[in-house]
Amino acid sequence: MKNKRIFLLLAIVGVAMFLFGASINAAESDAVKDVFEMNNTDAFAKHKKGLCTFSHKKHSIAAPDGYGVACGECHHDKDGKPLELKEDDAVQGCLECHDKTEKPKKPKGMAKADWKKMKLEYYYGAMHANCVDCHKSGGAGPVKCSECHPKKAKK
Ligand code: HEC
Ligand code: HEC
Ligand code: HEC
Ligand code: HEC
Repeated sequence: MKNKRIFLLLAIVGVAMFLFGASINAAESDAVKDVFEMNNTDAFAKHKKGLCTFSHKKHSIAAPDGYGVACGECHHDKDGKPLELKEDDAVQGCLECHDKTEKPKKPKGMAKADWKKMKLEYYYGAMHANCVDCHKSGGAGPVKCSECHPKKAKK
Protein backbone atom coordinates (compact mmCIF):
# COMPACT_ATOMS: atom_id res chain seq x y z
CA MET A 1 0.00 0.00 0.00
CA LYS A 2 2.73 2.43 1.02
CA ASN A 3 4.77 1.48 -2.05
CA LYS A 4 1.82 2.24 -4.29
CA ARG A 5 1.48 5.71 -2.83
CA ILE A 6 5.16 6.45 -3.34
CA PHE A 7 4.91 5.20 -6.89
CA LEU A 8 1.96 7.50 -7.53
CA LEU A 9 3.87 10.44 -6.07
CA LEU A 10 6.90 9.71 -8.23
CA ALA A 11 4.68 9.46 -11.30
CA ILE A 12 3.11 12.86 -10.60
CA VAL A 13 6.50 14.46 -10.02
CA GLY A 14 7.73 12.87 -13.23
CA VAL A 15 4.85 14.22 -15.31
CA ALA A 16 5.23 17.68 -13.76
CA MET A 17 8.96 17.74 -14.53
CA PHE A 18 8.28 16.61 -18.09
CA LEU A 19 5.75 19.42 -18.63
CA PHE A 20 8.05 21.99 -17.04
CA GLY A 21 10.94 20.88 -19.23
CA ALA A 22 8.79 21.03 -22.36
CA SER A 23 7.73 24.62 -21.60
CA ILE A 24 11.36 25.69 -21.12
CA ASN A 25 12.28 24.15 -24.46
CA ALA A 26 9.42 25.93 -26.21
CA ALA A 27 10.52 29.27 -24.76
CA GLU A 28 14.09 28.70 -25.86
CA SER A 29 13.24 27.84 -29.43
CA ASP A 30 11.10 30.99 -29.79
CA ALA A 31 13.88 33.38 -28.83
CA VAL A 32 16.74 34.26 -31.16
CA LYS A 33 19.93 32.56 -30.13
CA ASP A 34 22.76 34.87 -29.03
CA VAL A 35 25.31 32.91 -31.01
CA PHE A 36 24.76 30.83 -34.14
CA GLU A 37 26.91 28.00 -35.25
CA MET A 38 26.40 28.47 -38.97
CA ASN A 39 25.57 25.01 -40.23
CA ASN A 40 22.98 25.42 -42.93
CA THR A 41 22.49 21.94 -44.27
CA ASP A 42 19.81 23.17 -46.71
CA ALA A 43 22.47 25.22 -48.50
CA PHE A 44 25.39 22.80 -48.37
CA ALA A 45 25.14 19.05 -48.62
CA LYS A 46 28.44 18.88 -46.80
CA HIS A 47 30.49 21.43 -44.89
CA LYS A 48 34.08 21.20 -46.07
CA LYS A 49 35.23 24.01 -43.81
CA GLY A 50 35.09 24.37 -40.07
CA LEU A 51 31.81 25.92 -38.92
CA CYS A 52 31.68 29.68 -38.49
CA THR A 53 30.58 30.88 -35.08
CA PHE A 54 28.50 34.02 -35.54
CA SER A 55 27.88 36.21 -32.50
CA HIS A 56 24.48 37.52 -33.64
CA LYS A 57 23.63 39.39 -30.47
CA LYS A 58 27.05 40.91 -30.03
CA HIS A 59 26.93 42.26 -33.58
CA SER A 60 23.70 44.16 -32.95
CA ILE A 61 24.13 45.56 -29.46
CA ALA A 62 25.75 48.98 -29.07
CA ALA A 63 29.40 49.56 -28.25
CA PRO A 64 31.28 49.04 -26.00
CA ASP A 65 29.53 45.70 -25.34
CA GLY A 66 28.81 45.00 -28.99
CA TYR A 67 29.60 46.14 -32.50
CA GLY A 68 26.47 48.28 -32.96
CA VAL A 69 25.44 46.90 -36.37
CA ALA A 70 21.83 47.81 -37.24
CA CYS A 71 19.49 44.89 -38.00
CA GLY A 72 18.93 46.34 -41.47
CA GLU A 73 22.62 46.02 -42.36
CA CYS A 74 21.95 42.30 -42.70
CA HIS A 75 18.16 41.83 -42.84
CA HIS A 76 16.30 43.40 -45.76
CA ASP A 77 13.06 43.00 -47.68
CA LYS A 78 12.32 41.44 -51.04
CA ASP A 79 13.70 44.52 -52.81
CA GLY A 80 16.88 44.47 -50.76
CA LYS A 81 15.70 47.47 -48.70
CA PRO A 82 16.95 47.43 -45.08
CA LEU A 83 14.39 46.29 -42.52
CA GLU A 84 13.82 48.11 -39.28
CA LEU A 85 13.36 45.40 -36.70
CA LYS A 86 12.65 45.11 -33.03
CA GLU A 87 14.37 42.55 -30.82
CA ASP A 88 11.79 39.77 -31.23
CA ASP A 89 10.55 40.36 -34.78
CA ALA A 90 10.54 37.30 -36.99
CA VAL A 91 12.71 37.43 -40.10
CA GLN A 92 13.07 35.41 -43.28
CA GLY A 93 16.16 33.29 -43.53
CA CYS A 94 18.78 34.51 -46.03
CA LEU A 95 18.38 31.28 -48.01
CA GLU A 96 14.71 32.01 -48.71
CA CYS A 97 15.76 34.66 -51.25
CA HIS A 98 19.42 33.95 -51.88
CA ASP A 99 18.20 30.52 -52.70
CA LYS A 100 20.84 28.90 -54.87
CA THR A 101 22.75 26.29 -52.95
CA GLU A 102 26.40 25.20 -52.85
CA LYS A 103 29.29 27.35 -54.10
CA PRO A 104 28.84 29.34 -57.33
CA LYS A 105 31.21 28.75 -60.25
CA LYS A 106 32.18 31.63 -62.48
CA PRO A 107 31.16 30.95 -66.08
CA LYS A 108 34.03 31.45 -68.53
CA GLY A 109 34.32 35.01 -69.79
CA MET A 110 31.57 36.45 -67.60
CA ALA A 111 31.95 40.18 -66.92
CA LYS A 112 32.93 41.15 -63.39
CA ALA A 113 29.67 42.99 -62.65
CA ASP A 114 27.55 40.05 -63.84
CA TRP A 115 29.59 37.62 -61.76
CA LYS A 116 29.09 39.78 -58.70
CA LYS A 117 25.37 39.74 -59.33
CA MET A 118 25.28 36.03 -59.98
CA LYS A 119 27.15 35.28 -56.76
CA LEU A 120 24.46 37.12 -54.80
CA GLU A 121 21.83 34.67 -56.00
CA TYR A 122 23.65 32.08 -53.97
CA TYR A 123 23.38 31.79 -50.21
CA TYR A 124 27.17 31.28 -50.25
CA GLY A 125 27.68 34.58 -52.07
CA ALA A 126 25.19 36.56 -50.00
CA MET A 127 26.75 35.35 -46.79
CA HIS A 128 30.34 36.14 -47.73
CA ALA A 129 29.38 39.47 -49.30
CA ASN A 130 27.50 40.55 -46.20
CA CYS A 131 29.97 39.39 -43.60
CA VAL A 132 33.34 39.81 -45.31
CA ASP A 133 32.57 43.09 -47.10
CA CYS A 134 31.65 44.83 -43.87
CA HIS A 135 34.69 43.51 -42.07
CA LYS A 136 36.84 44.70 -44.98
CA SER A 137 35.31 48.12 -45.41
CA GLY A 138 35.04 48.74 -41.68
CA GLY A 139 38.58 47.59 -41.08
CA ALA A 140 37.39 45.37 -38.22
CA GLY A 141 36.31 41.76 -38.04
CA PRO A 142 37.72 38.64 -39.67
CA VAL A 143 38.39 38.55 -43.43
CA LYS A 144 40.70 35.54 -43.66
CA CYS A 145 39.03 32.20 -44.30
CA SER A 146 40.56 30.50 -41.30
CA GLU A 147 39.48 33.27 -38.94
CA CYS A 148 35.83 32.34 -39.57
CA HIS A 149 36.31 28.71 -40.55
CA PRO A 150 38.55 27.09 -37.97
CA LYS A 151 40.40 24.04 -39.17
CA LYS A 152 38.30 20.95 -38.72
CA ALA A 153 39.58 18.61 -36.10
CA LYS A 154 41.07 15.54 -37.76
CA LYS A 155 39.09 12.42 -37.11
C1 HEC B 1 33.36 36.58 -41.80
C2 HEC B 1 33.36 35.16 -41.75
C3 HEC B 1 33.74 34.36 -42.97
C4 HEC B 1 34.90 34.46 -43.71
C5 HEC B 1 36.06 35.41 -43.52
C6 HEC B 1 34.82 33.41 -44.70
N1 HEC B 1 33.65 32.71 -44.56
FE1 HEC B 1 33.10 31.07 -45.62
N2 HEC B 1 31.28 31.04 -44.70
C7 HEC B 1 30.91 31.90 -43.69
C8 HEC B 1 29.53 31.64 -43.35
C9 HEC B 1 28.73 32.35 -42.29
C10 HEC B 1 29.10 30.57 -44.18
C11 HEC B 1 27.73 29.91 -44.21
C12 HEC B 1 27.74 28.61 -43.45
C13 HEC B 1 26.37 28.06 -43.22
O1 HEC B 1 25.43 28.84 -43.02
O2 HEC B 1 26.24 26.82 -43.23
C14 HEC B 1 30.23 30.20 -45.00
C15 HEC B 1 30.25 29.14 -45.91
C16 HEC B 1 31.38 28.71 -46.58
C17 HEC B 1 31.47 27.49 -47.37
C18 HEC B 1 30.36 26.48 -47.59
C19 HEC B 1 30.24 25.54 -46.42
C20 HEC B 1 31.38 24.56 -46.29
O3 HEC B 1 31.97 24.48 -45.20
O4 HEC B 1 31.71 23.85 -47.26
C21 HEC B 1 32.73 27.44 -47.89
C22 HEC B 1 33.30 26.36 -48.79
C23 HEC B 1 33.42 28.64 -47.44
N3 HEC B 1 32.58 29.39 -46.64
C24 HEC B 1 34.72 28.95 -47.78
C25 HEC B 1 35.35 30.13 -47.43
C26 HEC B 1 36.67 30.53 -47.94
C27 HEC B 1 37.50 29.72 -48.93
C28 HEC B 1 36.96 31.73 -47.36
C29 HEC B 1 38.16 32.61 -47.59
C30 HEC B 1 38.39 33.02 -48.96
C31 HEC B 1 35.85 32.06 -46.46
N4 HEC B 1 34.90 31.07 -46.55
C32 HEC B 1 35.80 33.17 -45.64
C33 HEC B 1 31.70 32.88 -43.10
C34 HEC B 1 32.95 33.27 -43.53
C1 HEC C 1 25.62 41.22 -38.82
C2 HEC C 1 24.40 40.71 -39.43
C3 HEC C 1 23.15 40.66 -38.61
C4 HEC C 1 22.65 41.62 -37.75
C5 HEC C 1 23.23 42.97 -37.37
C6 HEC C 1 21.40 41.09 -37.25
N1 HEC C 1 21.17 39.85 -37.79
FE1 HEC C 1 19.59 38.66 -37.39
N2 HEC C 1 20.46 37.14 -38.42
C7 HEC C 1 21.59 37.26 -39.20
C8 HEC C 1 21.89 35.98 -39.80
C9 HEC C 1 23.05 35.67 -40.73
C10 HEC C 1 20.90 35.09 -39.36
C11 HEC C 1 20.74 33.63 -39.72
C12 HEC C 1 19.75 33.61 -40.83
C13 HEC C 1 19.72 32.33 -41.59
O1 HEC C 1 20.14 31.28 -41.08
O2 HEC C 1 19.23 32.39 -42.71
C14 HEC C 1 20.00 35.85 -38.50
C15 HEC C 1 18.87 35.35 -37.87
C16 HEC C 1 17.92 36.12 -37.24
C17 HEC C 1 16.65 35.63 -36.76
C18 HEC C 1 16.14 34.22 -36.88
C19 HEC C 1 16.68 33.40 -35.76
C20 HEC C 1 16.33 31.95 -35.84
O3 HEC C 1 16.52 31.30 -34.83
O4 HEC C 1 15.89 31.48 -36.89
C21 HEC C 1 15.98 36.70 -36.21
C22 HEC C 1 14.60 36.69 -35.57
C23 HEC C 1 16.84 37.85 -36.35
N3 HEC C 1 18.01 37.46 -36.97
C24 HEC C 1 16.52 39.12 -35.93
C25 HEC C 1 17.42 40.18 -35.87
C26 HEC C 1 17.16 41.47 -35.22
C27 HEC C 1 15.84 41.86 -34.58
C28 HEC C 1 18.31 42.20 -35.34
C29 HEC C 1 18.61 43.57 -34.77
C30 HEC C 1 18.39 43.74 -33.35
C31 HEC C 1 19.27 41.38 -36.06
N4 HEC C 1 18.70 40.18 -36.36
C32 HEC C 1 20.56 41.76 -36.38
C33 HEC C 1 22.35 38.38 -39.36
C34 HEC C 1 22.21 39.56 -38.62
C1 HEC D 1 13.05 38.72 -48.88
C2 HEC D 1 14.20 38.36 -49.68
C3 HEC D 1 15.58 38.50 -49.08
C4 HEC D 1 16.03 38.01 -47.88
C5 HEC D 1 15.27 37.24 -46.82
C6 HEC D 1 17.44 38.36 -47.81
N1 HEC D 1 17.81 39.03 -48.93
FE1 HEC D 1 19.66 39.77 -49.35
N2 HEC D 1 18.94 40.70 -51.01
C7 HEC D 1 17.67 40.56 -51.51
C8 HEC D 1 17.53 41.39 -52.71
C9 HEC D 1 16.29 41.52 -53.57
C10 HEC D 1 18.77 42.05 -52.88
C11 HEC D 1 19.18 43.03 -53.98
C12 HEC D 1 19.82 42.21 -55.05
C13 HEC D 1 20.47 43.07 -56.09
O1 HEC D 1 20.73 44.24 -55.83
O2 HEC D 1 20.76 42.51 -57.14
C14 HEC D 1 19.64 41.58 -51.80
C15 HEC D 1 20.97 41.99 -51.64
C16 HEC D 1 21.84 41.43 -50.72
C17 HEC D 1 23.25 41.73 -50.65
C18 HEC D 1 24.00 42.75 -51.51
C19 HEC D 1 23.89 44.09 -50.86
C20 HEC D 1 24.60 45.16 -51.60
O3 HEC D 1 24.55 46.30 -51.11
O4 HEC D 1 25.16 44.90 -52.66
C21 HEC D 1 23.77 40.99 -49.65
C22 HEC D 1 25.21 40.95 -49.20
C23 HEC D 1 22.67 40.22 -49.07
N3 HEC D 1 21.52 40.52 -49.75
C24 HEC D 1 22.79 39.35 -48.00
C25 HEC D 1 21.70 38.84 -47.28
C26 HEC D 1 21.79 38.18 -45.98
C27 HEC D 1 23.07 37.93 -45.23
C28 HEC D 1 20.52 37.82 -45.62
C29 HEC D 1 20.06 37.18 -44.34
C30 HEC D 1 20.45 37.84 -43.09
C31 HEC D 1 19.63 38.26 -46.69
N4 HEC D 1 20.38 38.86 -47.66
C32 HEC D 1 18.27 38.05 -46.73
C33 HEC D 1 16.69 39.76 -50.98
C34 HEC D 1 16.70 39.13 -49.74
C1 HEC E 1 27.98 45.96 -40.93
C2 HEC E 1 29.17 45.35 -40.38
C3 HEC E 1 29.25 43.88 -40.08
C4 HEC E 1 28.59 42.84 -40.67
C5 HEC E 1 27.54 42.90 -41.77
C6 HEC E 1 29.10 41.62 -40.08
N1 HEC E 1 30.05 41.91 -39.15
FE1 HEC E 1 31.17 40.55 -38.08
N2 HEC E 1 32.09 42.05 -37.11
C7 HEC E 1 31.86 43.41 -37.31
C8 HEC E 1 32.66 44.17 -36.36
C9 HEC E 1 32.69 45.69 -36.24
C10 HEC E 1 33.39 43.24 -35.60
C11 HEC E 1 34.31 43.51 -34.41
C12 HEC E 1 35.72 43.50 -34.77
C13 HEC E 1 36.57 43.84 -33.57
O1 HEC E 1 36.16 44.65 -32.74
O2 HEC E 1 37.64 43.26 -33.47
C14 HEC E 1 33.01 41.91 -36.10
C15 HEC E 1 33.53 40.72 -35.61
C16 HEC E 1 33.23 39.45 -36.08
C17 HEC E 1 33.83 38.21 -35.62
C18 HEC E 1 34.94 38.06 -34.56
C19 HEC E 1 34.46 38.43 -33.20
C20 HEC E 1 33.26 37.69 -32.76
O3 HEC E 1 32.33 38.34 -32.24
O4 HEC E 1 33.17 36.45 -32.95
C21 HEC E 1 33.24 37.20 -36.33
C22 HEC E 1 33.52 35.70 -36.23
C23 HEC E 1 32.26 37.80 -37.22
N3 HEC E 1 32.30 39.17 -37.05
C24 HEC E 1 31.45 37.09 -38.07
C25 HEC E 1 30.48 37.68 -38.89
C26 HEC E 1 29.58 36.93 -39.74
C27 HEC E 1 29.54 35.44 -39.87
C28 HEC E 1 28.80 37.85 -40.39
C29 HEC E 1 27.73 37.61 -41.43
C30 HEC E 1 26.63 36.75 -41.07
C31 HEC E 1 29.22 39.18 -39.95
N4 HEC E 1 30.23 39.03 -39.04
C32 HEC E 1 28.68 40.36 -40.42
C33 HEC E 1 31.03 43.98 -38.23
C34 HEC E 1 30.17 43.28 -39.10
